[in-house]
Amino acid sequence: MLTQLFYIGLSLVLIHVTVPLLYYFIILTYARKPWVIGPVNINEEELPTVSIIIPTYNEEGMIIGKLDNIVEQGYPLGKIQVIISDSSNDNTQAKVEEWLSNHRGVNLNYIKGPRLGKGHALNKALESALGSIIVTTDADSLWVKGSLLNAVKWLANEQVGLVSCIKTPRGGGLTEDAYRRLYNALRVGESKVHSSVVFHGELLAVKGSVIRSIGGFPTDIGADDSYTGVKVASMGLRAIIPRDVVCVEYVPSNGYGRWRIRRAQHLLQSFMKSIKLPKPSSYRPVYYTEAYIHLVNPWLLPIGAILLLASGNLWAYALVALGVVLLAWPSFRAWVTQQFILMYAMVRNLWTKELVWEKINK
Ligand code: GDD
Ligand code: MN
Repeated sequence: MLTQLFYIGLSLVLIHVTVPLLYYFIILTYARKPWVIGPVNINEEELPTVSIIIPTYNEEGMIIGKLDNIVEQGYPLGKIQVIISDSSNDNTQAKVEEWLSNHRGVNLNYIKGPRLGKGHALNKALESALGSIIVTTDADSLWVKGSLLNAVKWLANEQVGLVSCIKTPRGGGLTEDAYRRLYNALRVGESKVHSSVVFHGELLAVKGSVIRSIGGFPTDIGADDSYTGVKVASMGLRAIIPRDVVCVEYVPSNGYGRWRIRRAQHLLQSFMKSIKLPKPSSYRPVYYTEAYIHLVNPWLLPIGAILLLASGNLWAYALVALGVVLLAWPSFRAWVTQQFILMYAMVRNLWTKELVWEKINK
């Protein structure tokens, strides 16, 4: 009985470690391969019109820098419509008006509505969006110059339905940097297989016809970005994250834990909602392995460890002790922390989906 506990516990821990390692190894191999699809070059006169939707909740500190960053992209201003979908109770509106008085040439619509969550704000803006491409972007994020044009070029490929960005963190330290490097390479590798599973509200560019055909953005879950990408991939179009579309994201200095838990909650909501969608066969291995890694795999670690301890076996104690010692290694500690965040997020989703969240200052 006790030896059985030992072997079951050991197997769970080994599966917990091996499945992600194997998956990452395979996807990183893909990340180094060339693309089989590519962006399409477009003459300046033929560039499509783009509606850029910025949902805002109390962004008085960020909105001016955000608008400046859009006009500095180099995309022809005559082809851009900016829509600010605001539910703030601070000075965001006044800041927008002040900026607009200095940028009369910019086509900017400001709409105000009650605070019902980000998804609602995006859909409200979608009603007045005239561009053939819809881009949604968070007020507290910036784009590396040229990213908008690059996203549009990728979307000119008829196989591509949605494009999102690589993320580079500002603030957050070395562990966050190392984690993001791996994370970005995985997103690119998945995109080269077919499509990614995680997409970023910092820049989400989607064909207007595509987003309308799926009825806009979801409002019953938090990760409107990731879910929309998976939904587009499920339709058979590619939803990709290429290397030349890059966002800068500010990492909060305080409230970091709460921020990560909420984002994990939202991502899990996206997986739960998208798991039933029929998917193209080349996308299935990526999607279901990621769903497994997020929803099931975390639990194998503590269950395995408990079974090992319960077996009373000396080797088991040694193994668990080794795990504890390894926590001194930052990458391993980051991994274990993420497992506990995912488990806690899953449990927390049972009582709150956090569709409207507290603003965390960056
Ligand atoms: N109009 C409106 N109404 N805008 C909102 C609301 C709302 O209820 N809630 C948030 N926003 C705006 C914010 O002002 C910001 O521009 C954007 O939506 C993202 O919100 P943040 O507060 O900055 O959240 P984050 O940095 O953690 O966002 C990330 O995770 C979210 C999911 O948890 C991004 O990836 C988001 O795109 C993603 O939705
Ligand atoms: Mn943000």
